[in-house]
Amino acid sequence: MAKTLAFANLKGGTGKTTLCYNLAALLTDMGQRTLLVDLDAQAHATTHAGFEPLKIKKGVFDAIDDYLEKHNTGPQVLLRQEKLFILPSNPKTVLLEEKLESLPNKESVLKDFLVEFDRDFDFILIDTPPSLGLTVLNALVASQYLLIPVKLDFFSLVGLAQMINFYYKVNATFSPYLRLLGLIPISISSRANVCKDVMNELRTTFGERLLLPTLRNDIKVVEASSHGLPVHRYAPKSRATEDLTKIAREIMRRLA
Ligand SMILES: Nc1ncnc2c1ncn2[C@@H]1O[C@H](COP(=O)(O)OP(=O)(O)O)[C@@H](O)[C@H]1O
Ligand SMILES: [Mg+2]
Repeated sequence: MAKTLAFANLKGGTGKTTLCYNLAALLTDMGQRTLLVDLDAQAHATTHAGFEPLKIKKGVFDAIDDYLEKHNTGPQVLLRQEKLFILPSNPKTVLLEEKLESLPNKESVLKDFLVEFDRDFDFILIDTPPSLGLTVLNALVASQYLLIPVKLDFFSLVGLAQMINFYYKVNATFSPYLRLLGLIPISISSRANVCKDVMNELRTTFGERLLLPTLRNDIKVVEASSHGLPVHRYAPKSRATEDLTKIAREIMRRLA
């Protein structure tokens, strides 16, 4: 059975897509059969994997729609970058929220849909849009584990409390087995003292147990995304590759 992990934070620009795509590619190269699901209409994870969203005829919305209408799913909707499988997004993904809203089992559609892929993968990683809407609720209900990327600046702490409350609510209402695997601190700016202060705040509030290794600021992350490659292949010796490897190993250790 696949282990399903959602990357979520209602704030944009906190590193959800960066972590989700790079960790998916890294897990793949560590020999894990991995599927990346892009639920964001901005399709950044799809782009990061080297695909042009406007050229994708069937994205995640059509895949779910076909499943609902014709009970027709399967690997034919998936794209591949080397050994990594991707359920891509395209602009039609904006329709997903409204579609879900119209269904009786609105919060568990993605969970039911993903059952089809369960046996073929060791890991399913879900990248989500920056909101707390029905699409993100579906991602959480479909997952056993939640990862919250936290940008190391003071504004992040405000959004974080809201995100954690959302997790508790989902946990209590729809998904008793969903576990918060951890927060992944990410420093996108090089203002080291702000990062240190926020890191201390996170440590005091959540404790070491909930903190995964940090992804430090590294321009290679941005460069790799514009080349449609994971950082560990674009810049194997970079600081980001070192950090992402630590994060991937820690995730595997916690799930073992
Ligand atoms: N460690 C890092 N160092 C430098 N830039 C980064 C780092 N991580 C992410 N970024 C950049 O920050 C921006 C926001 O990251 P992204 O993963 O798209 O956030 P989200 O998906 O939460 O909106 C992107 O342009 C990304 O390339
Ligand atoms: Mg994103």
